[in-house]
Amino acid sequence: MKYSINLLYLLFFFSFLITSCGKKQTKQTIINCNSNVNIYYPSGYDKSSHTPSFAILNEPSPLEKVLDSSSLKVSFSEFSDRQIAQVSFGSNVDLYGTGEVMGDLIRNGKTVKLWNTDNYGYGKDNGQRLYQSHPWVLGVGENGKSFGVIADNTWKMEISLGERITFSSEGPAFRIIVIEKDSPQEVMKELGELTGTIELPPLWSLGFHQCRYSYYPDERVKSLADTMRLKNIPCDVIWMDIDYMQNFKIFTFDSIHFPDPKETNDYLHKNDFKSVWMIDPGIKAEKGFFVYDSGEKINAWVQTRNDSVFLGKVWPGDCVFPDFTQSKVSKWWGGLYENFMAKGVDGVWNDMNEPAVFETVDWTMPDSNKHVGDENIKNDIHLRYHNVYGMMMVESSRNGIIKSNPDKRPFVLTRSNFLGGHRYAATWTGDNNSSMKHLKQSIPMSLNLSLSGQPFNGPDIGGFAGNATPELYAHWIAVGAFYPFSRAHSTKGSINQEPWSFGEEVETVSREALQRRYRLLPYLYTLFWESANTGMPVMRPVFFNNPAEKYLRTEQENFLLGSDLLIIPKWSENGQIPAGNWRSISINGEKSQNHKYHPDVLIRPGAIVPLCNPIVSTNSFSLDTITLIVSLDSNLSAKGILYSDLGEGYGYQDGEFSLVEFYAQTQKGITTLNTKIIDGNSFPNDTKLNIKLIMDGEVRNSFGLIEESIIIND
Ligand code: GLC
Repeated sequence: MKYSINLLYLLFFFSFLITSCGKKQTKQTIINCNSNVNIYYPSGYDKSSHTPSFAILNEPSPLEKVLDSSSLKVSFSEFSDRQIAQVSFGSNVDLYGTGEVMGDLIRNGKTVKLWNTDNYGYGKDNGQRLYQSHPWVLGVGENGKSFGVIADNTWKMEISLGERITFSSEGPAFRIIVIEKDSPQEVMKELGELTGTIELPPLWSLGFHQCRYSYYPDERVKSLADTMRLKNIPCDVIWMDIDYMQNFKIFTFDSIHFPDPKETNDYLHKNDFKSVWMIDPGIKAEKGFFVYDSGEKINAWVQTRNDSVFLGKVWPGDCVFPDFTQSKVSKWWGGLYENFMAKGVDGVWNDMNEPAVFETVDWTMPDSNKHVGDENIKNDIHLRYHNVYGMMMVESSRNGIIKSNPDKRPFVLTRSNFLGGHRYAATWTGDNNSSMKHLKQSIPMSLNLSLSGQPFNGPDIGGFAGNATPELYAHWIAVGAFYPFSRAHSTKGSINQEPWSFGEEVETVSREALQRRYRLLPYLYTLFWESANTGMPVMRPVFFNNPAEKYLRTEQENFLLGSDLLIIPKWSENGQIPAGNWRSISINGEKSQNHKYHPDVLIRPGAIVPLCNPIVSTNSFSLDTITLIVSLDSNLSAKGILYSDLGEGYGYQDGEFSLVEFYAQTQKGITTLNTKIIDGNSFPNDTKLNIKLIMDGEVRNSFGLIEESIIIND
């Protein structure tokens, strides 16, 4: 404790030093834009060092009239060879965001390093720099009034959150974008406007994913799939880690362990699974290897400061690294996926893309390495492009995958990324430990990633490094069923970490946990649709229910899934619950309130949550029967929304979807449920509704057809 107070003093002392000694104040220009967005440019701002912006997809439009309505003050200065931007805000402001970070949900008093780092077990630098960079801070003040700050800068940087927000960069002067709104939700939506939002993912990617480093040979993959089905564990995806490759050479298959990957994928497909296969950026520097040879022909590689090809060690030994700043390289890279996807691969896992380089001081390539660029992206040193290397890689991968399978929605998972990179890939939080500490840490971590624009994220369930105990695994899968991205993974040499590896009790807990997730898919998919449309996160902090309530702002054990479900992990002690009559629900017949592992799930008063029938794969997803969990508010009314489409392909862009709203209301003691088609195709009128009205102490059941007005109780 004393230690952390001292650290805090030190932090403030240094930020005082930075602000008062030796600094050279820089003038600024303010551009007021639509939607309460202001852009601040320091004098000496050189556009060519920052454009095109990686974070900003849609430049805000400047207003003709200049207003100075901002309650935030931005100032720029130079200190030694660092460029500094400071943002002052009023008192009583809670800060969030800053991307993928360790520690508490509230970021006040914290310093984060933006330098994408392969950080096994989160051990380096005390986890203060991880695999991704988000130069973004969300502030929530009095009455929930909120702001967001983007430092539009890819160069190596530090964010200190003291009395002011201080961005201190090793690159040239950069601009600051400030959003000011009445609530954090509106700030998130504006962030979505500026950075773009996710595209609707395929439905299968919302199912459960089973991974390990590595499932091989192919027979083990098949028997894993068989066991999942035999044991009736809901699961959609089996993952192939690096050992499927021939000597770790990307886009190849081990001739002994995976002699016929097409046949392996066919087997998985026949059993209602999808497959995701890993591709890393390090390419074995070996003449005769087709990926190396074809890249060599177009000078595709990142260069050293002396203009020779940079060689660094990764899994296959000496590797070259594609320079994604060149569009010809990005196109070449995308093209490599054509034959790969043709083997029946469904999704791609891009890993080690910080980029990680073994046997180096800082586990990456030198800052002074050179990226060649082209007419769109300026040639510059690695210090500028390091933090966006992973983002450029996944953009290129995604484009190639779409080209290979134009009728399917792509799925890419990335370890490294940057603010705005949610447009191209989902993410997981890298190599965590099998420990209760990291299980608990996963909630604020996923929440802050969600509050930094990345809704599709989650940690390795069970923990990656080390061995999970039965107890830990049971807790983790029970909560992990509610992460936006739900994947179990563990490292080489660890014990088996499948749902059945820890005995019967844990197997039952795993099955029940995943059954809960699968029944919630209509609700979850609607949340992803909302996120794709508005930028709202899927997993939300409890204070999103009422941002003006100070007591909710620190809650980091309980969390919200959308706005209607509150998840209370079993380890939650004195967890905060928003005001009102939040009622406990049973999603699939389970009794979670006194259960050792299953989180209690509460429904918001006034909400209607749609469920589907129990399934073990999204291949059998159907809305022939929809269960509606209804909880009335103090006005005796409730409302819910359901978006649905084919869950694959792009038909939804041509009207092949349905958007319906459900309303429940009690009048003169009679509660009635009505459905309203809002947009898209209507549901077939023989769609069955199975309604569960959650009362205090009892549940009233009722049935009807979708277009009827259904009386629930009288
Ligand atoms: C990295 C990844 C991990 C993966 C391993 C082998 O450590 O973070 O998920 O299993 O590499 O590919």
